[in-house]
Amino acid sequence: MMSKKIAISTGGGDAPGLNAVIRAVTLTAIREYGWEVIGLRNGFDGVLAKEPGIPLNEQLTEDILREGGTILGAANRGNPFKRPITQPDGSVIYEDVSDQVIDHLKTMGVDALIMVGGDGTMAIAQQLYTKGVRLVGVPKTIDNDLGGTDRTFGFDTALNIAMDALDRLHTTAESHHRVMVLEVMGRNSGWIALQAGVAGGADIILIPEIPFDIDIVCEKVRMIRRSGRLHSLVVVAEGAAEHDGSKYYVDAAQKRLGGIGDHVGKLIMEKTEAETRVTVLGHIQRGGSPTVYDRWLGTRFGANVLRLIKEEKWGYMIGLRGEDITEVKIADAIAALKRVDPASEPIHTARNMGISFGAAEDKS
Ligand code: F6P
Repeated sequence: MMSKKIAISTGGGDAPGLNAVIRAVTLTAIREYGWEVIGLRNGFDGVLAKEPGIPLNEQLTEDILREGGTILGAANRGNPFKRPITQPDGSVIYEDVSDQVIDHLKTMGVDALIMVGGDGTMAIAQQLYTKGVRLVGVPKTIDNDLGGTDRTFGFDTALNIAMDALDRLHTTAESHHRVMVLEVMGRNSGWIALQAGVAGGADIILIPEIPFDIDIVCEKVRMIRRSGRLHSLVVVAEGAAEHDGSKYYVDAAQKRLGGIGDHVGKLIMEKTEAETRVTVLGHIQRGGSPTVYDRWLGTRFGANVLRLIKEEKWGYMIGLRGEDITEVKIADAIAALKRVDPASEPIHTARNMGISFGAAEDKS
């Protein structure tokens, strides 16, 4: 078998399970294919700095399975087609430096590139692919909203952390007869809020896919109190919005979401007079050790993406359909985000559990 030099990069925000992918790629490349693997540092930042990359071997990767984050580092704003360059006067211009990335990969003698990331990274992968880069993708995001795969790794860990937070908030909610609001991640999709919310016994779940009405939310809180239970749990995805669609940002210029939890908590307190507290879970959801599922999925994705390289399926991404590993064109995976269908069974089931989405379709 011809020896190959494979490069792997981890782009976008980190997610628990990235190291499982890096380990599986390295071990499978060496043991099954006899290929060499190098890790690119910080997305493409290392490539642009003309770094040689980190030679990955069994020794370097054997103990990383249980570690969160990525040993290669990540870069959230590392799009080589739109690289921010700060000018001497402080203003920022954007440059296309993709040719520099391609040239340095050639100089390094890279035969194939594995890009691990979410929708942003896969969009970059598609652009590089159309410029002739021989690459394949591995889907990652705690939000679970990338198309072309039923699951992304990182999601299960985030779910368990959010559910644990709800269990803990429940204690104070009950003792102090309070409304506890938990803001979770979920930029465009409510998968974390929905699944952790149902599993954590939330009364109200607000997600980007279902615009909410604060009066319906408050009426639900009042109704629970009238029934004799003085506490309630509310889960809000960071990207949830009322009917006017306005989102809350901690940094609008950088499009960093945050603040919807405080907004909802303040209105509940004002309108219902129930004592309300807000917790923003933030990056805790992305941190720490990956769950069994994310280590398992990351390992399977990492091991199987090498087959795409062997078969020269450039521009393809590995994915999961049901329990099976599949492959999909990256172009198809990024065509549309995978979002919660408001008319789907999980929403129907949640409504039958008495959960309100702050919408007219809720059951009382
Ligand atoms: O896409 C994953 C995600 O965790 C989103 O839910 C969130 O909006 C975003 O990343 C946060 O990114 P950053 O780490 O740059 O604040």
